[in-house]
Amino acid sequence: MKRTVLITGATSGIGEAIAHSFAQNGDRLVLTGRREERLSAVKDELESTYQATVFTYPMDVRDAELVATICQKILNEVGPVDILVNNAGLALGLEKFQDYVTEDMLTMLDTNVRGLLLVTRQILPQMVEKNQGHIINIGSTAGIYAYGGAAVYSATKAAVKVLSDGIRIDTVATDIKVTTVQPGLVETDFSLVRFHGDQERAAQFYKGIEALQAQDIADIVLFIANQPRRVQISDITIMANQQATGFTFHREQ
Ligand SMILES: NC(=O)c1ccc[n+]([C@@H]2O[C@H](COP(=O)([O-])OP(=O)(O)OC[C@H]3O[C@@H](n4cnc5c(N)ncnc54)[C@H](OP(=O)(O)O)[C@@H]3O)[C@@H](O)[C@H]2O)c1
Repeated sequence: MKRTVLITGATSGIGEAIAHSFAQNGDRLVLTGRREERLSAVKDELESTYQATVFTYPMDVRDAELVATICQKILNEVGPVDILVNNAGLALGLEKFQDYVTEDMLTMLDTNVRGLLLVTRQILPQMVEKNQGHIINIGSTAGIYAYGGAAVYSATKAAVKVLSDGIRIDTVATDIKVTTVQPGLVETDFSLVRFHGDQERAAQFYKGIEALQAQDIADIVLFIANQPRRVQISDITIMANQQATGFTFHREQ
């Protein structure tokens, strides 16, 4: 049976790849993100490639009022959400904490933690009512292993993991599943965003490492979502082959 899958941050990278995986699987997609033209482009591609049913709702996850309005609109117009993928997120900067730009710290906190809370708080009650649903939160290896210059990003991703655990406890008496997916180094626009659009610095970051691709993570997310009722994958960590911990890499010269 077709499920309705709501993905935040579906305009690029991992979120866009996850949309492809579910569309190929025959599920209905509800895509959100801030960039409206990217949302339309992804929708067109999914519809023409997989004949998928795709709804798009521009949404900044940091805006509490907007999130409440859009999520209720989705529930009214599209219907119940079976799978919520909380993927919208970012790192900004890679500086020592004592040198960090305050605005960057707060944007990470607001997007990665506050945004995830706001969206989940809107969607979860309907899952509880139906006694069915799956929340898949995109954490990071940074949430397990803090690394230099990323104290705040790591803290936000540790929060994602602990929030997932807490929500799993609060819904344990229901059929709802909660999963934290913790990817390592994935080659997306992530570094371009982190380095405020500095293409050279972003490219340098992946040099000499065979990084994970967004589709690798998407394949795993679909696998997680396709398990039978009795199986709940609580956490999964995926590293690049040349990655040992959050920030220990082997670079080919
Ligand atoms: N790439 C990695 O190495 C890596 C590793 C571990 C975890 N992750 C996590 O994976 C997730 C996806 O990142 P990515 O690598 O795919 O990077 P990406 O290509 O830059 O994608 C980030 C997505 O988040 C959305 N987003 C950012 N701020 C938002 C906001 N305020 N409101 C709504 N959407 C927002 C962006 O959409 P708009 O700009 O259109 O709003 C975009 O679709 C993030 O949570 C990231 O922390 C990435």
